[in-house]
Amino acid sequence: MKHLAVIPGDGIGKEVVDAGMEIIEAVSEISSFDYDAELFDIGSERYLRTGELLTDEDLDDLGKKDAIYFGAIGDPRVRPGILEKGILLRMRAHFDQYINMRPVTSWHPFVPLKKHFDFDICFLRENTEDFYMGAGGMLRNGKDAEVNIRRKLYDMRIDLRAESSSGDDFAFEIGLLSRKGVERFADHAFRTAAKRNDDTVTLVDKANVCSIYEIQREIFTDKAKEYGIDVEFMYVDAMAMAMIVRPHTFGTVAVPNLFGDILTDLGAQLQGGLGMGASGNINPDGVSMFEPIHGSAPDIAGQGKANPIAAILAVKMMMDHLGHEDVGTMIQNAVRTCLDNGKYTADLGGKLTTKEAAAEIKKAVLRQ
Ligand code: NAI
Ligand code: MG
Repeated sequence: MKHLAVIPGDGIGKEVVDAGMEIIEAVSEISSFDYDAELFDIGSERYLRTGELLTDEDLDDLGKKDAIYFGAIGDPRVRPGILEKGILLRMRAHFDQYINMRPVTSWHPFVPLKKHFDFDICFLRENTEDFYMGAGGMLRNGKDAEVNIRRKLYDMRIDLRAESSSGDDFAFEIGLLSRKGVERFADHAFRTAAKRNDDTVTLVDKANVCSIYEIQREIFTDKAKEYGIDVEFMYVDAMAMAMIVRPHTFGTVAVPNLFGDILTDLGAQLQGGLGMGASGNINPDGVSMFEPIHGSAPDIAGQGKANPIAAILAVKMMMDHLGHEDVGTMIQNAVRTCLDNGKYTADLGGKLTTKEAAAEIKKAVLRQ
């Protein structure tokens, strides 16, 4: 019996999570997947009502679950950043979800490339280190513009005394990769490649310019030997081009945080856009969270226009993660069937509402 936490959140998050829950219920009827689900009232409504974002009690309760199924947050009434930092980022940090996993699948005919390539890439983005540690700032006239810079540097055990007393202002951003951080990331990448039967892990960096990435190459080379799987190195600029001209040549791709942010958005468009993109925030030994990559889409919220596929593919990822790969495959196949038969929402050029599209996918699941 798996215990799921369900956080629909805001806007279309609620609509697409409803759709995803229909699919979860359906697969539980026809497979060995057994679950209970607890709904969490987390998002802008509660924040506006009570001022609470994510409480310690929420985190305790979520920590007892096997996985978190998340819709989206974001509300025009709340200043940008408050919900994202207070809920999403806090949750990722608390559960140390150090990998962001994003499949990039050729969902024809929505792949915007002229040539027909069949691809199935698994992007793994490191989620905690690199240039996104918030260790940056600006120094003006010898003074920290942001008082937390020194604190951050201290926390990172970097002894750097930056001076700009000559009046030469400067801004900086520090990136950091730790051996521990890269090792756990590499382990997960090679384990993923083994599971997927990929004979190579592609590691993306910019090691020709940024020395920070040398340690990553070193560790991935060692781990490649340990796992008996090859590693190939790609510079991020070359990778961006290769994703367009030969996406079918990639399997498991490991990317540090900053470059991963950019390449996974390119990947999302490559497979057919926001309505198709699912994502997992993974801690292989802890509580992971699965979500569509899109936001709360206030422009279409409450109108039944949201494409439920991204959220349903997030369910597929969650099933795979919970050891029910057979169920994951059923969901993937059902989505494929509905795309082949024109059963989808308006963003893809179809005629169905969110509920109708979800019902079609559910039917296709139950027919298997
Ligand atoms: P968005 O992803 O919500 O929407 C961008 C555009 O894509 C909109 O025109 C929307 O209608 C469309 N769209 C998105 N998902 C769709 C779907 N499933 N079916 C059909 N059309 C879809 O991004 P936006 O507008 O930049 O942000 C809206 C709010 O969502 C903001 O508050 C933002 O901070 C938040 N956000 C939350 C995320 C999360 O919870 N993980 C991720 C991205 C944004
Ligand atoms: Mg991004």
